[in-house]
Amino acid sequence: MNKCVFISGGTANSGLGISEKFASEGYDVFVGSRELDKSQQTAEYLTQKYGVFARGYATKVFDEEDVKRVFADIASTGRLVDCLVLCAANLGIRQEFLTVPMEEFMDVINTNIGWNFMLCREAAKQMMQKGKGSIVFINSNTSYRAIPDRISYVASKSGALGLMRALAFDLGKYNIRVNAVLPGMIKTDRWQNNYNNCRNALSNYTPLGDIADFEDIANATYYFGSDLSKNTTGAELTVDGGNMIQLYPIIPENK
Ligand SMILES: NC(=O)c1ccc[n+]([C@@H]2O[C@H](COP(=O)([O-])OP(=O)(O)OC[C@H]3O[C@@H](n4cnc5c(N)ncnc54)[C@H](OP(=O)(O)O)[C@@H]3O)[C@@H](O)[C@H]2O)c1
Repeated sequence: MNKCVFISGGTANSGLGISEKFASEGYDVFVGSRELDKSQQTAEYLTQKYGVFARGYATKVFDEEDVKRVFADIASTGRLVDCLVLCAANLGIRQEFLTVPMEEFMDVINTNIGWNFMLCREAAKQMMQKGKGSIVFINSNTSYRAIPDRISYVASKSGALGLMRALAFDLGKYNIRVNAVLPGMIKTDRWQNNYNNCRNALSNYTPLGDIADFEDIANATYYFGSDLSKNTTGAELTVDGGNMIQLYPIIPENK
């Protein structure tokens, strides 16, 4: 039986890159999305391209019974997850401090911390049966550096790092490792279509002069998710072209 992984938000952008990476390494892949069609299409694609077992789920955010349903269904295939990748996130875009409704603020916290905790708990129960496992949070370098009008997102990503460390401690005795990948900017449509911002980010804000491709995030995730990192838990791996260690932007002099 192949090893297997559940990936939330595994149908697009970095999530699809992560799904493909695990499938290419021979993992059976369970894909979560808020839309069943998308997750099923991704699962079919993975099976056709990589010859692995894959199944898509429609996931209900911050719904513990739904999380239990998903993991019970995984078990019903005769499999238990070896790895959980928490990629889905509520981005909490355009939340202005004075006006953001508390419901919208809490939606982001509930998704990025509360729902992830629920997913960790059900996945960990399966990993305990196997005697080992690995949980990977796709976090963000915004857990250390704030960006404008993303109040709850920044708070949630910082909180999720604390959750990662607490789980790494509590689950270590079950040989379950918990780590976090911290992307900076990633080449999603959001960045590709934001030419000015993207150009400045590439050339002025990163010592390497480039931001992450999906496969950069996928490779870091696979490192934590697999036995390649079997003695590592509670750790962070930043994948941001060096954005975090650069103090100020380098603006070329006008000629
Ligand atoms: N893009 C960046 O520059 C960047 C930078 C730093 C960190 N990150 C982190 O990297 C991860 C992947 O980001 P990405 O930009 O590659 O992909 P993304 O498309 O922003 O997000 C991944 C998935 O999250 C799910 N999602 C979106 N809104 C949601 C909501 N309100 N509630 C629940 N799920 C939601 C979507 O899946 P479904 O529609 O299929 O449900 C989406 O495909 C995220 O955790 C993000 O916070 C991204």
